[in-house]
Amino acid sequence: MLSVDNLCKTLPAPNGMRTMKEPGLPTRQLLAGVNFSIAPGELVALVGESGSGKTTLLNLIAGLERPDSGSIRLDDIEITGLDDDAAAILRRHRFGFVFQAFHILPHLTVSQNVALPLWLIRHGEADSAKRIRESLASVGLADRADSWPRELSGGELQRIAVARAMIHRPRLLLADEPTGNLDSDNADRILALLATSVRSVGAMGLLVTHSRSAAALADRALMLGRDGTLAPFPTR
Ligand SMILES: Nc1ncnc2c1ncn2[C@@H]1O[C@H](COP(=O)(O)OP(=O)(O)OP(=O)(O)O)[C@@H](O)[C@H]1O
Ligand SMILES: [Mg+2]
Repeated sequence: MLSVDNLCKTLPAPNGMRTMKEPGLPTRQLLAGVNFSIAPGELVALVGESGSGKTTLLNLIAGLERPDSGSIRLDDIEITGLDDDAAAILRRHRFGFVFQAFHILPHLTVSQNVALPLWLIRHGEADSAKRIRESLASVGLADRADSWPRELSGGELQRIAVARAMIHRPRLLLADEPTGNLDSDNADRILALLATSVRSVGAMGLLVTHSRSAAALADRALMLGRDGTLAPFPTR
């Protein structure tokens, strides 16, 4: 279970305003008491205007940034209470990430890219080989294991990124605009893959998207508003 309770994050005002050097610097409350939870097997979509704080919220959940106040619990771990090293270890073991820019490493083969999370947690070699095969098969790219990223299309690269995000069986998948660089056919395929990957292993997923149809594919959708709080987002 992921539980986010009363999460608050204030940003310093843009540089122009900061140079005024007035007492009580102007700030912007990006997150003003954000509350939600995600249950095992559930995929939740997060929508909101550009600059509303969606990526910031993901960074806070991943322990990459610190909130002003509030709590983020993944199963029984209070993420806001971890130091940087502990947060990094937690990310390696329990989190999977998919980004808009695929972040596939060009000098590693397809299977080496997919294997990265297993290397990072020093997962046993024999089982790794089996998992890499299964995971490439699950995204329909079993025959591309030894290809180089430059030989793959954008849609294929993002399928590799999905395989890589799930190979170490994370508890929580964070996907930030994973279909932003894809045409609609490839986008649909990636979203379906994400949804199946999360649900089939009882993981949890949080998917940032600008698209209503993408949000409709999730179990439910939330909108981060200008006021810094979340509200249900109707998708149909
Ligand atoms: N480290 C930082 N310091 C100051 N301002 C920041 C910082 N990180 C983000 N911001 C600002 O916080 C706001 C929210 O940024 P964020 O990236 O979370 O938005 P977003 O909802 O993901 O937008 P998009 O849909 O464009 O990706 C923006 O106005 C951004 O400029
Ligand atoms: Mg963003």
